[in-house]
Amino acid sequence: MATITSSSKNAFITGRWTAEDSARLYGVADWGKGYVGVNARGHATVMPTKDPSRQVDLHEVVQGLRERGIHTPVLLRFNNILEHRLREIRKAFDDAMAEQSYTGGYSCIYPIKVNQQRHVCEQIASLAAGLNFGLEAGSKPELLAVLGLSAAAGGVGVNGMPIICNGFKDSEFIETVILATKLGRNIIPVVEKFSELELIVRHAKAYNVKPRIGVRVKLSSRGAGRWESSAGARSKFGLFVSEVLRAVEFLRAHDMLDCLNLLHCHVGSQLYDIRVLKNAINELAHIYTELHRMGAGLTTIDIGGGMGVDYDGSQSAWSSSINYSVQEYAADVVYRIKAVCDDARVPHPLIMSESGRAMVAYSSVLILDVLGSSKFEADPDLPRIEAMMKAETERGGEVPQPVLDLLESYRNLTDRNLLETYHDCTQARDEAMSLFSLGYMSLPMRAAAEQLFWAIGHKLLERASRRGDLPDEFENLPDLLSDIYFCNFSLFQSMPDSWAIDQLFPICPIHRLNEEPTRRGILSDITCDSDGKIDHFVDKRIDKKALELHELRPIQEESNGTVTVTNYEPYYLGVFLLGAYQEILGDLHNLLGDTHAVHLSVGPDGSWTIEEVIEGDTVEEVLQYVQYDVKDLKDAMRRDIEVACRQGRLTLPEGKSLLKYYDDGLEGYTYLEE
Ligand SMILES: Cc1ncc(COP(=O)(O)O)c(C=O)c1O
Repeated sequence: MATITSSSKNAFITGRWTAEDSARLYGVADWGKGYVGVNARGHATVMPTKDPSRQVDLHEVVQGLRERGIHTPVLLRFNNILEHRLREIRKAFDDAMAEQSYTGGYSCIYPIKVNQQRHVCEQIASLAAGLNFGLEAGSKPELLAVLGLSAAAGGVGVNGMPIICNGFKDSEFIETVILATKLGRNIIPVVEKFSELELIVRHAKAYNVKPRIGVRVKLSSRGAGRWESSAGARSKFGLFVSEVLRAVEFLRAHDMLDCLNLLHCHVGSQLYDIRVLKNAINELAHIYTELHRMGAGLTTIDIGGGMGVDYDGSQSAWSSSINYSVQEYAADVVYRIKAVCDDARVPHPLIMSESGRAMVAYSSVLILDVLGSSKFEADPDLPRIEAMMKAETERGGEVPQPVLDLLESYRNLTDRNLLETYHDCTQARDEAMSLFSLGYMSLPMRAAAEQLFWAIGHKLLERASRRGDLPDEFENLPDLLSDIYFCNFSLFQSMPDSWAIDQLFPICPIHRLNEEPTRRGILSDITCDSDGKIDHFVDKRIDKKALELHELRPIQEESNGTVTVTNYEPYYLGVFLLGAYQEILGDLHNLLGDTHAVHLSVGPDGSWTIEEVIEGDTVEEVLQYVQYDVKDLKDAMRRDIEVACRQGRLTLPEGKSLLKYYDDGLEGYTYLEE
């Protein structure tokens, strides 16, 4: 549909579209949670400390990066947002503990699997020391990274930065943990299956170490949403309560029950309903107090990850949102644990949460450029259609009845026959497609039928919207008629969860926001995969299947008196809240590699500084990753060009240009470049 009707108050009153109208339309305040805004110039802004006086203009950043030769697609990481987010979580728990006289303390543990990028982890590790936070590793490579990170951040010593080890562990893994304990690290392996406990005891005795041990328990409380199976009896990880009791006996028999320091659970990522969390914490706290009573040396309760992110801004209990705030999460966790422990007269434990997503999601924004669009035209080229009909009859054929019917419907459409026309034209379109498939309709006549059908669709919508009365049957028409905007990125590389689990991420233009977006469209990436598209968008109320976008501004070029449009003025979109899980789950579909990533710091006056530029993969790098020998490729190309030049199929300068293009291409970005 060509035109969207704005429900915006401002535009309605003044007749002029403002940046505020855009902010409302895209729900920026709802999902941006104070980190994202729109300025009076109609540009999207980032406020890394939620302070409007300290804001950075995203369009200016993109221009500045362009001037430095860094082109879109580019991932912007805001160091200050990351820091602000960590401090916000710290404060929420400190406030909850102070209000409820909780004495056990709190520590947030960053599971590096959420975003293992060195720069992100290093920043978290260096902040962790001051905030009493820690790191989590879920595999051998992650353990080695975390040991290095914690040492570099000064988190050594038995009371140093806590390191939690989850996931399956073999003998070598556990031996490393025991030796790291001997080295003086505050490291806790969490037992996921009983055999790990046996290994811990064996290695601890061999090295004469008193380890700190955690156990993960399978709760009966179910998780919720996509990661529901992280909890419950059928979950992959953790010990049944009966096994936990066996673990207690086993440790007692080895005179190591005082080493059982931590009780862990994880009920799933992106917990959208706070009730699920409350039930799980309640159950976990009861198990904690029972084990404490039995003589376990418990000091810490680890509630796992799951603190969610309100991706669509609806603050509701569904998968792209959450029905609670960080403050409510903290208050509920503290309250539940305190209530159960006070009842059982057990000292308040140190609370740990492994809130990865909530820590990092807000800090990354992907900026991508639109390459072009395709639309279903509202105005058919009637003279051309009539000429095609004439040519059809001149060739001795007949204009097929469905085409005539569509033309008649188009011409006779009035406000009084909208529904009737809709029925007639859908039937005529279906008949036309059947005739074509059976070989009874020519390609030009099929083209005419399609054009007329789309044009009638547009007219129907226009008239129905003007009447303010959209019949139910037209419900799907706006989405069917929306444009396709081709964007320079790979969904599979930059936002894999959009493809894999239909995760919604907020998207909006980062400029032209004081212009009314007059088109609606879906976004298509540059992979050759038909799944490489975004056709669901965040909205508080509806399942939005097309995004409001601006008309692309063509750049006209004149050559030999002929004006052609070969390009468009840059049009940039921002995809927000991409900091958690997306980078590491991304893949090399179509050999489109990592995008450039730029770490930015924002000064008190909103000025921005580039802290670090991590260049995206080059073509050469991704080819080598899939085992190509780049030298072999170049040699083969050179030989082929040589033969072509000798045989006169290419001139020498042409051959030279092609070889240069090939070499430059190998060294270049995997995405389309200006
Ligand atoms: C054991 C464990 N801890 C923590 C997390 C992080 O969860 P989130 O990022 O949702 O906070 C996960 C992720 O699924 C996990 O499996």
